[in-house]
Amino acid sequence: MLRWPALVLLAAVSVAQATDGEYLLNAAGCVACHTAEGGRPLAGGRAFVTPYGTFYSPNITPDRETGIGTWSRAQFVAALKHGTSPDGVAYFPVFPYTSYRLMSDQDAGAIHDHLQSLEPYQQQNREHDLAWWLGRWMMKLWQWWNLDPLVPMPVTKDPMINRGRYLVDALGHCGECHTPRNWSGVMVRQSHYLAGSKQGPDGDAVPNITTDRSNGIGKWDADDLQYFLETGALPNGDYAGGLMTDVIDNSTSKLTAADRKAMAAYLKTVPAVATP
Ligand code: HEC
Ligand code: HEC
Repeated sequence: MLRWPALVLLAAVSVAQATDGEYLLNAAGCVACHTAEGGRPLAGGRAFVTPYGTFYSPNITPDRETGIGTWSRAQFVAALKHGTSPDGVAYFPVFPYTSYRLMSDQDAGAIHDHLQSLEPYQQQNREHDLAWWLGRWMMKLWQWWNLDPLVPMPVTKDPMINRGRYLVDALGHCGECHTPRNWSGVMVRQSHYLAGSKQGPDGDAVPNITTDRSNGIGKWDADDLQYFLETGALPNGDYAGGLMTDVIDNSTSKLTAADRKAMAAYLKTVPAVATP
C-alpha cells in the first residue's frame, strides 16, 4: 500500500512568521469547520457526512465544561499536531492534524493562546454517528500505520517560496481536499500532490491545482492566483463555489497580500501532475 512519503518539515523559524494567534486561526481555516450553520463561531456542531459516518466538530471555545477551557498549551499542541486528545485518545483524521503536524509548535501555541482569550460558550459536543464497523480505537492503528515520522527536508533558498509552502501545507491544509486519497484515507502526496480528487469531503470532485496546463492551473499566472485567493474570482470571470467558498471567505481573503503572494509563488513551483 501507499505510505506517506517523508514529509517536509520546514525550518519553523524562517517560515512561521506571524505569532498573532487570530491571524493563524484564519490562515489554518479553523473557523469554518468548528462553526455550525448559523451557530456560535468555534462552538462546534458542524456536521461532516462521509462514507465512514457523520462527524461533528467539537466546541473549541474556552468553556471549561464543554469546550477546551481546562486544556494546557501542551495538550492543545498535541491535539493539533499529533491528533491525540488530553486523555490519550486518537482523533479521526477528519480533523486535519495530518497537515497541521507540519505547523511549528510556536504557531500552534499561539492559536491556543488566542482561543483561550475568547469568550467561553457553553455548548455540549455532539457524538459522531459512525459506521457500525468503525471505532475510535482503530485510529491509534491508523495513525501508527499512516503517519510517518516527520523528516526535515532542505528549505529552498527563496524565503517567499518557503513561506508559501508553509501556508499551503501546514496552515491552509490545501492538500486535504486537493490531493487524492488512497483506500485508507491517506493523501497520496508522493505521486499526486495537489492533483485533484474525484471525491472531496462533500462527495464532489476537487480540481487539480498543480501547474499541469490542461488539467491544472498551469495557465494561470501568479497574479491570477493571488487575486483568486483574495476574491474567489477565476481568470474566466466565474467565482469558485462549493467548499472553496469557505476557504476564500474564512481564510485566504483574510491573509496579508504578502502571504497570498507567497502562496501563489509556491503553487507556481508545484510540479505538473495529471488528475488521477
Ligand atoms: C476539516 C474540518 C476541520 C478543520 C479545518 C479543523 N478542525 Fe478541529 N476538529 C474537527 C473535527 C471533526 C474534530 C473531531 C475529531 C474527533 O472527534 O476525532 C476536531 C477536533 C478538534 C479538537 C479536539 C477538541 C476536543 O474536544 O477533543 C481541537 C482542539 C480542534 N479540533 C482544534 C482545531 C483548530 C485550532 C483548527 C485550526 C488550526 C481546527 N481544529 C481545524 C474538524 C476540523
Ligand atoms: C475543504 C476543501 C478545500 C480546501 C481545504 C481547499 N480547497 Fe481549493 N477548491 C475546493 C473545491 C471544491 C474547488 C472547486 C470549487 C468550484 O467548484 O467552484 C476548489 C477550487 C480551487 C481553485 C480553482 C481551481 C480551478 O481550476 O478552478 C484553486 C486555485 C484552489 N482551490 C486553491 C486552493 C488553495 C491554495 C487552498 C489552500 C489554501 C485550497 N484550495 C483549499 C476545495 C478545497
